[in-house]
Amino acid sequence: MKIRFADRRPEGSYALALPLAAGALTGERLGALGEANAGFVRRAAESARFEGEAGAVAEMFLAEGEGARRLLLVGLGAAEDDAAYERAGGALAAKLLTSGETTLVVDFSGHKTSGERAAHCALGAVLRAWRYDAYRTRLKPRQKPSLAEIVIVGAGEGAEAAWSKLEAVAKGVAFTRELVTEPANILYPEAFVERCLKLRDLGVEITVLEPEEMAKLGMGALLGVAQGSTRPARLLAMRWKGADVEPIAFVGKGVTFDTGGISIKPAAGMEDMKWDMGGAGAVAGAMMALAGRKAKAHVIGVCGLVENMPDGNAQRPGDVVTTLSGQTVEVINTDAEGRLVLSDALAWVQKTHGVKTIVDLATLTGAMIIALGHEHGGLFSNDDALANQLLAAAKESGDPLWRMPLGEAYDRLLDSQIADMKNVGPRFGGSITAAQFLKRFIEDGVKWAHLDIAGMVWASKAGATWDKGATGYGVRLLDRFVADNFEAK
Ligand code: BES
Ligand code: ZN
Ligand code: ZN
Repeated sequence: MKIRFADRRPEGSYALALPLAAGALTGERLGALGEANAGFVRRAAESARFEGEAGAVAEMFLAEGEGARRLLLVGLGAAEDDAAYERAGGALAAKLLTSGETTLVVDFSGHKTSGERAAHCALGAVLRAWRYDAYRTRLKPRQKPSLAEIVIVGAGEGAEAAWSKLEAVAKGVAFTRELVTEPANILYPEAFVERCLKLRDLGVEITVLEPEEMAKLGMGALLGVAQGSTRPARLLAMRWKGADVEPIAFVGKGVTFDTGGISIKPAAGMEDMKWDMGGAGAVAGAMMALAGRKAKAHVIGVCGLVENMPDGNAQRPGDVVTTLSGQTVEVINTDAEGRLVLSDALAWVQKTHGVKTIVDLATLTGAMIIALGHEHGGLFSNDDALANQLLAAAKESGDPLWRMPLGEAYDRLLDSQIADMKNVGPRFGGSITAAQFLKRFIEDGVKWAHLDIAGMVWASKAGATWDKGATGYGVRLLDRFVADNFEAK
């Protein structure tokens, strides 16, 4: 989707959108359509019960010369905040994507808006218009996207500058969605790394560990998960150094497919487990966004990449593995593999980069979806200030989080008869014991947050700024978290 900002409407054929605040169906805005049209449009909008709620759309056609011009009134709501502008852009994109229109003109003339706000409208549209048709070889012409360009008119000062930053974020979200959408026969650990190599063009430094090296280092937990697959594991580290400051780290669970291993999952819905790399996908997308907008921050993104398969060499329930941290784990359930992968990735980034702030993201537990549904990711943290920074970024970015508890009593549930810990606790509180497990790999003095995003990576229905499928959750959250707290101004 091409985005352009202009002072006045272009010539030629296009669909015209007029954004309206709640209750602003009167006066000057409609007057711009000409007197005869204004009355018609107002009555049409009223019959359509259009009241300007954020993202509401009333669509109609106006006679223009010999032809007809498609007109869309789109609501900005009462608050008229960034989110409302994104909803409006998203709603327009959803409506027009396959409509046959190739150009959309969104006309803010006469509406007091800021360039920043108008750029958020563009962001909403670009995010909502994303789709992945790589494997659809028989789409009929009318099923294909037609909308190719959005011209934003009368946006005001600074719209282009704001968009150039937001565009980088949109690209990061799109990258995450692509990684999450790709099936596991295409996107396995090596392929994931391969796709991330293009981040080098943005100035990201990339390091990749192969199994031999990981074995030498002692990553028994990550390699234990990978050993049942013919696809070799990878540890991917991406460094963006946009400022000469101490680094922070993002760590993602990248299980490119989770069969459950020998503790195999039921067949129904198992295909969903292609997106069990959504945490790693969010980390990769966030790195793209940060590098793309040249964030003045120093961030290391680590992805633990494995495929969890049950073959003759797969690890068994009851196996004991030695992790990079030196602690041993009794693998009670091979389906609780994400925490095993993360334990070594977390230990590695602390050992090699000495980071003092870490945020990990993982589609870690089904129990997280039971607790929070698809409305919030779960946030666990050993540091209140870090937790509050993330909650604030969640609110602002539209990637919502809800804080969950940690505590000694939960931790004790992981004690093992034979090793330092088991990889699962009892059924109840499953997301919390999973977080407690990770916490055992965080060194003293390190601020750490764990985001269980199992319910957020994939959507069964379209939302304001995403279609059904991969949401790209986490990219905007991490980008905002960095911008607000770790960027030199
Ligand atoms: N990848 C799953 C968690 C998951 C389930 C994510 C459904 C998204 C949707 C994870 O590896 C897993 O299987 N967890 C187990 C843990 C259990 C064995 C303690 C689970 O949640 O059932
Ligand atoms: Zn699993
Ligand atoms: Zn998993």
